[in-house]
Amino acid sequence: MIKVSPFVMVIFGATGDLTSRKLMPALFHLTQQGYLPDRFFIVGFARRNFTKEQFRQMMKEAVEKVLRLKIKDSSQDLKIWKQIENNLYYQQGYFEEKSPYDNLIPLLSSFDKETGSCITRFFYLATPPSNYSIILKNLEETELAEGCGSPFASTSAKASAGEKASGDKQGFTRKWTRVLIEKPFGKDLNEAKNLEEQLAKTFEERQIYRIDHYLAKETVRNILAFRFANTVEAIWNRDFIDHVQITLSESSGIGNRGKFYEGMGALKDVVQNHLMAMLAYTAMEEPLSMTAQHTRDKRVEVLDKIRCMTEEDVLSNAVRGQYGAGIINGKSIDGYRQEKNVSPDSLNETFVALKLYIDNSRWQDVPFYLRTGKRLNQDFTKIDIFFKNRDSRLFKQFQIGNQAANIISIRIQPKEGITFRFFAKSPGFTYDLSTVNMDFSYSTAFKKEIIDSYEKILIDSMMADQTLFATAKGFSATWEFITSVISGWEKQTLPVFPNYKAGSTGPVEADAMIERDGRKWMF
Ligand SMILES: NC(=O)c1ccc[n+]([C@@H]2O[C@H](COP(=O)([O-])OP(=O)(O)OC[C@H]3O[C@@H](n4cnc5c(N)ncnc54)[C@H](OP(=O)(O)O)[C@@H]3O)[C@@H](O)[C@H]2O)c1
Repeated sequence: MIKVSPFVMVIFGATGDLTSRKLMPALFHLTQQGYLPDRFFIVGFARRNFTKEQFRQMMKEAVEKVLRLKIKDSSQDLKIWKQIENNLYYQQGYFEEKSPYDNLIPLLSSFDKETGSCITRFFYLATPPSNYSIILKNLEETELAEGCGSPFASTSAKASAGEKASGDKQGFTRKWTRVLIEKPFGKDLNEAKNLEEQLAKTFEERQIYRIDHYLAKETVRNILAFRFANTVEAIWNRDFIDHVQITLSESSGIGNRGKFYEGMGALKDVVQNHLMAMLAYTAMEEPLSMTAQHTRDKRVEVLDKIRCMTEEDVLSNAVRGQYGAGIINGKSIDGYRQEKNVSPDSLNETFVALKLYIDNSRWQDVPFYLRTGKRLNQDFTKIDIFFKNRDSRLFKQFQIGNQAANIISIRIQPKEGITFRFFAKSPGFTYDLSTVNMDFSYSTAFKKEIIDSYEKILIDSMMADQTLFATAKGFSATWEFITSVISGWEKQTLPVFPNYKAGSTGPVEADAMIERDGRKWMF
């Protein structure tokens, strides 16, 4: 059974959406499952003025809302919640100010004293990325990043930790601190590089946990099991695969994230990370082992082989879109330009469709079609592997045009599972063929719940396992590709936005892009 050592987690941006919807429910569930130690501390850091009690109440309500439970007196849930609540603190302050960080120094040291050891300090950057740099700077300058080995910490706690200090920088150890950074990791290649440089000044690589929660999704991780534990891997290549489609389709809009999304767009917000994470698992070579180094190396290797787009490529293989007003589930929906904190003549994209190639022997000339959009007609994330049709002499007459017979569809969400489409003989005296589906569904095959990706992220970071975290090289490779698309777009005439209706399947140009190749999007 996994058991984590005592720790403190400082969450920068603790009153935000991510903390309420993901982090707190994950911490509650992990406590409920008995994975967390008896002693752990959570310190929320954010701008608004809350007392510790108000913050605790806010977090309790968040847990109740997300986990759909009511924490009642004398219930087991209350016992679990109390275990968290009693260790929940709040530090009000602006990230730009020094004093709130200074206030953290004695608070964090008091936890070391209380537990009698140098407990691991986690700094979780759960804020919009524009704040990362100033937070890192202040962590460095206040030496909070140094952890228990800092000159501010009690020497007795340091001594009682019983671990050998790594002995870097003035002899202070950095052994007991880790930083977790949310995606998007910068806004372009330059920003990502600057952020890496800044991180490297303060932390060693083994302390840095770059989060892309898609890497930690059960169904995405299952791609490795499906491919490499099965014989299907023998046909997972250009000889047998015609093309691959990766889709992340959302019916939701941007919610209250207008300000953030305006400077971002779909390409940087999800293609650079989530779609690339799915692509990496789909296309990577088999790692030597499940160790962090081997799996991360293989993910990076394939991302590095994605062919950057030329200006001409972008013109024909990179479609962008923005939603206008429309109807979803019978409800009228505003266009993107009417959303809160969005410019009325915004040219930000809320939809992207790309065709890209991977330059290696496994995937040469196999197109990968990537698609994502907001305010589309459906919510699903899926990877469809289209196999080449078999040139069967026996059944030649039954091949219907270019229709792909064999498709493996990996459903990341919802209805998590895998479908295999193939030709079958229709019942009857003659050989009539129809395509049918063979289905694996997590909910029927396993009696266990799928682990939430944020629970996995938290546990893995606590266990110092970096396997499911992104690397600087991986992000650099994907940013290079993304930058080539952006450069191409910048040279094109400006798009006429909006170009798709809320509740539709996206702009017609995206259909035209794939149909030019004699293929169709899979829904
Ligand atoms: N939300 C999700 O589901 C989700 C999923 C995956 C990744 N992410 C990533 O997670 C990060 C956080 O997203 P979010 O949706 O939680 O953001 P959010 O709702 O906008 O929350 C921002 C948080 O940062 C605080 N903050 C902002 N500026 C500050 C300042 N100058 N000083 C002190 N505090 C400041 C806010 O405090 P106040 O409330 O006090 O203003 C709030 O706690 C982003 O990088 C996002 O891309 C989010």
